[in-house]
This record gives sequence, C-alpha cells and structure tokens, in this order.
Amino acid sequence: MEKNKLTKKGDSYFPTKEFQKRAWVNNKRIYKEALKNPIKFWEGLAKELFWQKKWKKIFIHQPPYFKWFVNGKINITQNALDKNLKQRRNKVALIWEPEPMEERQRVFTYYDLFREVNKLANAFKKIGVKKGARVGIYLPMIPEVIISMLACVRIGAVHAVVFSAFSPKALQVRLQDTEAKILITADGYYRRGKLVNLKQNADEGVKETKVEKVVVVKRAGNEINFQPDRDYWYQDLIKNQNDWCQAESMDSEDLLFILYTSGSTGKPKGCVHTCGGYTVQAKLTAKWIFDLKEDDIFWSMADVGWVTGHTYSCYGPLLCGATYIIFEGAPDWPAPDRWCQIIEKYGVTTFYTAPTAIRMFEKYGSEFPRKYKLNTLQVLGSVGEPIDEAAWQWYFKEVGKGKCPLVDTWWQTETGGILITSLPGIGPFKPSFTGLPFPGTKFDIFDDKGKSCSSNKPGNLVMLPPFAPGLLRGIYKNPEKYLETYWNQYGKKVYFTSDGAYKDKNGLIRIVGRVDDAIKVAGHRITTGELESAVALHPDVTECAVVGAADEIKGEVPMVFAVSKTKKPEEQIKTEIISQIRKEIGPIAQPKEVYLVKDLPKTRSGKIMRRILRRLFTGEELGDLSTLANPESMEEIKCKLK
Ligand code: PRX
Repeated sequence: MEKNKLTKKGDSYFPTKEFQKRAWVNNKRIYKEALKNPIKFWEGLAKELFWQKKWKKIFIHQPPYFKWFVNGKINITQNALDKNLKQRRNKVALIWEPEPMEERQRVFTYYDLFREVNKLANAFKKIGVKKGARVGIYLPMIPEVIISMLACVRIGAVHAVVFSAFSPKALQVRLQDTEAKILITADGYYRRGKLVNLKQNADEGVKETKVEKVVVVKRAGNEINFQPDRDYWYQDLIKNQNDWCQAESMDSEDLLFILYTSGSTGKPKGCVHTCGGYTVQAKLTAKWIFDLKEDDIFWSMADVGWVTGHTYSCYGPLLCGATYIIFEGAPDWPAPDRWCQIIEKYGVTTFYTAPTAIRMFEKYGSEFPRKYKLNTLQVLGSVGEPIDEAAWQWYFKEVGKGKCPLVDTWWQTETGGILITSLPGIGPFKPSFTGLPFPGTKFDIFDDKGKSCSSNKPGNLVMLPPFAPGLLRGIYKNPEKYLETYWNQYGKKVYFTSDGAYKDKNGLIRIVGRVDDAIKVAGHRITTGELESAVALHPDVTECAVVGAADEIKGEVPMVFAVSKTKKPEEQIKTEIISQIRKEIGPIAQPKEVYLVKDLPKTRSGKIMRRILRRLFTGEELGDLSTLANPESMEEIKCKLK
C-alpha cells in the first residue's frame, strides 16, 4: 500500500491515520452522541460564535414553523471579520484570480477585508440603506461581490444576489419580488475571453422595478450608459468613508438574505434565510466537512449567484478564519488546464467543484492533472448533482491521487448548508453515495404513504425535526408556497426535499434525483415548468412540453417539444424559441434540442404525458400508448428524433 493513500475496505475508502489524527472530527461516535440530543448538540456548536446577546431558548417548533437560538443577537460579519482581527489580522482572507491571465490577482488580508466592508457599509448608510432593506447584487466573481454581501449584512440590510449570467428579465423578476431600491452591479467582466457588458443588462433589468439607485463597480473599464441622477461609481462612493461601522444587532430570526431558486412556473421562489441558524450551520459545516485549518487554501468553484457560493465562497471560509480563492472565469479558459494551474499556483489544499466540471475535466484528459503539482490537495468535494461512479473514481484517482478524502455533499438552496455527506476524518467515502446526515440532523427515506423504506428501496428523502438551523424559514412573500412545497407531502412535521434517494445497509444515502419537475443542467437547478413558461411566450407556440434528458457532461439538458401552427420556416422558430429562453432565464437554460411537432401526447382528459416524452431519451419502453387520446402523436415525434 502506497503511503498516504486512503485504505479501501469493500467498496468504500477510509481516511489515513495521519489525516484522522489532525481532523476536526475523527470519531464516528459523534453521530450517536449528536442524535441523543440534537438541540443541545447545536447549542454547543453555536457557542463557538460571537453572540451580542445569548439566546433564551435554543429551539422552538410550531409545525411547520421553527426557530433557533431564540432571542439571541448576532451579526455574521462580527464572526466573519472582527473576530478574526485578533489572531489573523494580517492573514490572507481572500484571493481573487481574474480570468485574463495577464492580469494580477488581488489579495485581501482579514484587516483589508474588514476595512473595505466597513467603508461600503458606511457608504450604503449614506445613500439611505437601512436595516431590513433589500439590496440587489448583480455582480460577477470579483472581490466586490463578497464585500457587498458583507457590507449589507453588517448594517442589517438583506441581500438578494442574482447570478450575473442571468438575463435582464430574470434580474427584473427578482428585483420586483424583493422590492429592492438599490442594485449593485459592475460595468462589465470577462467570461471566456469575452467582455460581458453587465451594466447594459442591469439597466434593462431595473426597468419597472423599485430600484432608485444603482452602484456600479468599475471592473472592466468598458463604456457604459452612466445615468448621473441614479448611478454611483462604487469606487467614488467608498472614497473617504470611515473604515469602521457599527455592526447592527440582529435577532437570530431576522432575515439575513434571500436567494431565489427556480419555481415550477415562471416565478422563482425566494428562499428566506435567517441570521442565527444560518451562521452556525455555515461555520460548522465548512469547518468539519472541509476540515479547514489555519494553513489551508480553500477553493470552491461555485459562483456566488448560487447557494454554494453564498455559504462556501463567502461566509463559511471567513467564519473559519480560512484563506480562500474566488475565480472570475471559466475553469477551462484560456486552456483546459486553467483549473490545474490555479491549484498549483496557490497550493490549494481543499477543492470543491461539481460533477459537471469533473466530467468535463475528465474528457479533456488525465494529462492535464498529471502535468501539474496537485500534491498540496488534501480534501476534494463535489456538489450539486449526483456524481456517477466513473467521474468519482477519476476525480479521486487523477486529481486526489488516491490520497484525498472525497466528500460528496448533498444540500439545497433551502438548506443553507451541506446536510448529507461523509466527514473527511471519518469516512466512509463510497463512490456515488453522498454519505450520512450531518451530525445533529435526521433524515429518512419515506414511501408514498410516509413509511420508512428499508435499505436499498428508493423513496423520497425527508428531514425530520429538529431540522437543521440553516433550513429556510419561508418563501419570501409567499407563505402558501412554503407550506405547499415543503410541508404538504407528509404533513407539517416532515420537510420534503423533492429528492428521490435510497440507503444502503449501513445507512449511507444515495441520491437518485429530483422527484419534482426540477432538472439539474450542469448542476444548475431549473424547472421544466419555468422553461415551458418561457417557450409559451413565443407568439407562434400553441403548446409545449419540456423534459430533461441525460447528458454526458452536463448531467441533464432540457429538450423542448413545441407545437407551432405557423408557416414560418422551422429553423427560424427554433432559433426564436432558444432566444426566448435565453431572454427569460439566461444562457444556462439553453435547450439541447427543440422539436417542432404537430401534437403532444395527451391523456383523454387533456394532460400532456411528459413521462412518455422523457422515456424517449432514457431508452426505456414507451409503454402502452393506447391509453393516450392521440397515440399517433408519438409516431410523428419518434420520426423527428431519428
Ligand atoms: O437534487 C439535489 C441536487 O441539487 C438539488 C438542490 O439544488 P440547488 O438548490 O440548486 O442547490 C445545489 C447546491 C447545494 C438537490 O435537491 N444535489 C445537490 N447536491 C447533490 C445533489 N444531488 C446528488 N448529490 C449531491 N451531492
């Protein structure tokens, strides 16, 4: 056995003794102990943080509502920044790697970041941002996105970050829902060598919203349409601001941020996260799952536009006093080895990415990771979609050289932080299984009647009380949706994840995929319902159905079936449908194919049979079509697919 390689028992790997010795948690007893009294367990963890005032009660449950650390007062920035100033004032907190190779990185110590955040917090106050106000953030992966998020929460404002590659329309819908009066954006940024004129999108997106002021970060120096009565240059705004700003006292259950995820119709759902519980979970999951230590360099590839970016590219590493990297560009730009080059350049110890990226790296070839010194790596992470065994093995062997625990982390925008995984100092690491519920949380797999499934039997993944402290508290301005989406399937005491899963005989959980209409396109969660809403807006489309199909790299891709009665050329309609989707949602939602058909398969009551359309791409038998009202529709569709 080669030294430092993980040991293999049966089909699982286990950490080495050396790794175990230095890990934050290394004894599997923790699971049992935490479950004896999960509420007390989380209380113990909460004590690692700085609270302006201690909570009166740890947990209150009035199904389906619950509260954590009740009446406690906390500000996440005092934990992420101020607390680190004593021991880590001049330690590097954040490294920014720009996309253009010729541009230099920017490095912020904890003290630098602290001052930048405080200056912007004061500037926000000056332009009228108050506690509880919603602030839209539409920024690429540049340091100012982190500074903006932290500056908001410093003064108790609620950020709503919108992914910078989302379309102006997607931005507009989110701004309308939050009723934000302030938006922070940038002039432009670089993506795959191209300059993206973000300000232009922002100008479009703020139309018909309540946005009164737009703060613009000068990033790319491109020409913009600066509107002096509304726009402020970020760099001018923070000039001469005091670098100290009192951290607002936030109730544990006050709103911390809103982050939107796809809804089943065109309207996205604003997941509401609160101050106390989220902070505790973000810190402890980052610390234990990535085993973050003083000398670690953590790189999570996730964009801050997604929850992974919130918790592990912003709050988590700072709460742990770690050094971490954010990267502006695409990991295979300007060449397929850019990601390896970044790992080598900074001596990354902890690398967190998604199966889509892993499959893409694998396709480029093993010569890239072999060409670089990746020996600083100690922990590898995966997130966002199921990782198949082949991709798992490649990542483990070619990137981690068989020496790094590979944590496959399951969670959701709703859960705020990772909740199912293996812990790196304990294991086991079993390819394509995510692992066990994080200590102090309870999950089960239920059949349709709410009975716990025996091992190997697939069912629905559910979370049971007392619920993780970081779990969402609501859907912004939509209490019915909250009840209907999460607390309806099995009653008000069981959180329904919308994921299908099963357990092996040791209780390790394998995620099968979504059981609702969400599909994971390159790890991004998009509902077929919202895609259909976008397609239906096309004036020549009378009916449509969108289904997910498996894709070698992206995991899943949307396939559009549209009925159009116009005489326009097919190619033109298809192109228009694609641009309609890009306009409504953004390029990430681009379908792989658009099929124009005469009719869609329907039941006699007129319901479109998406299940049958889905089967066209799985290779499964289509089943008995005679129950359809229009079986001949499938003949035409099958011909189109040939
Ligand atoms: O289906 C699960 C899948 O991603 C969904 C949540 O998507 P989103 O809210 O965009 O958050 C993604 C990043 C946390 C889940 O319901 N998912 C997430 N992680 C995994 C996963 N599926 C399998 N394995 C995972 N590790």
